[in-house]
Amino acid sequence: MRVLIVLPQALAQRAIARFDKFDVAIVPPGSEDDAPLFAALGKADGVLVTPRTRVDRDFLSHAPKLRAVSTYSVGLDHIDLAACHQRGIAVAHTPTVLTDAVADLVMGLVVMLARRVPESMRVGASGDWRNVPMGIDPRGKILFIVGFGRIGQEVARRAIAFKMKVAWFDQKTPKVPVAGATRALDLKQGLADADFVSVNLDLNPSTWHMIGRDALACMKPSAYLINTSRGPVVDQAALTEALSDRRIAGAALDVLEQEPPAADDPILKLDNAIVLPHIGTATVETRQAMLDCAIDNLIACLRGEPCQFLATPAR
Ligand code: DGY
Repeated sequence: MRVLIVLPQALAQRAIARFDKFDVAIVPPGSEDDAPLFAALGKADGVLVTPRTRVDRDFLSHAPKLRAVSTYSVGLDHIDLAACHQRGIAVAHTPTVLTDAVADLVMGLVVMLARRVPESMRVGASGDWRNVPMGIDPRGKILFIVGFGRIGQEVARRAIAFKMKVAWFDQKTPKVPVAGATRALDLKQGLADADFVSVNLDLNPSTWHMIGRDALACMKPSAYLINTSRGPVVDQAALTEALSDRRIAGAALDVLEQEPPAADDPILKLDNAIVLPHIGTATVETRQAMLDCAIDNLIACLRGEPCQFLATPAR
């Protein structure tokens, strides 16, 4: 009997062609409710998802035959790993191929904040160039990286090349994997010392709102926060307040607690917040590599072959 793969979104023909030894059901895009997806899952052996699809107990209850979930992301917070594990469903993701793209964006945001690029663009467009915004040099400033996995480490390498001083905090990384970067044993002290803070954590119950009111209160009024990981790692209401009251100098956010944000989300109105639409991995090369990796993972799992990027139930 042929194996059925469900795709909750349309993919390029070239990608779908890679599943030529399988049956493929594509859920029609644009549906407001989950009914078409849940109906397709009834006979599914494998599914390829993005973070937009929540693979929770409800999803799984509609997929009695499911053997493999492959997500087109490094993040796994949209998947109930414990429930998959209980059912013996393999879960795979796409780390490594996107590390450089996200680290590049972090450094771009450091430069945008330091050199006041958004305000300078407004001045540039106004035609009145008499008072240009004065920025600061990243050189010599402290970049504090919270979460020192693959992406955090690549950010550190780039920041060292920018002549920044790099400190990092990660309870799960015991040794110092990047020469020239200093481990901070205390999160609050690291935040207090930093000129720039980059959040590079995955989202799980222990990191939810880890950068909250108390953490933000540790930061200097001249310091900047950058989040390219997951929105809920930062308490956005507390951040909005800290930015409005100028208790920190600014923030650059590629991720928000609600994506896309409501039109009246106050963070969108702040002149000291840069908000991007979750573009950390959004380059042609990286997205292609992620898709190739996600397809390889799904095929390997369904064939019972070794899969390099299996996720474990808890990190
Ligand atoms: C990831 O891969 O987790 C990126 O954030 C894209 O969702």
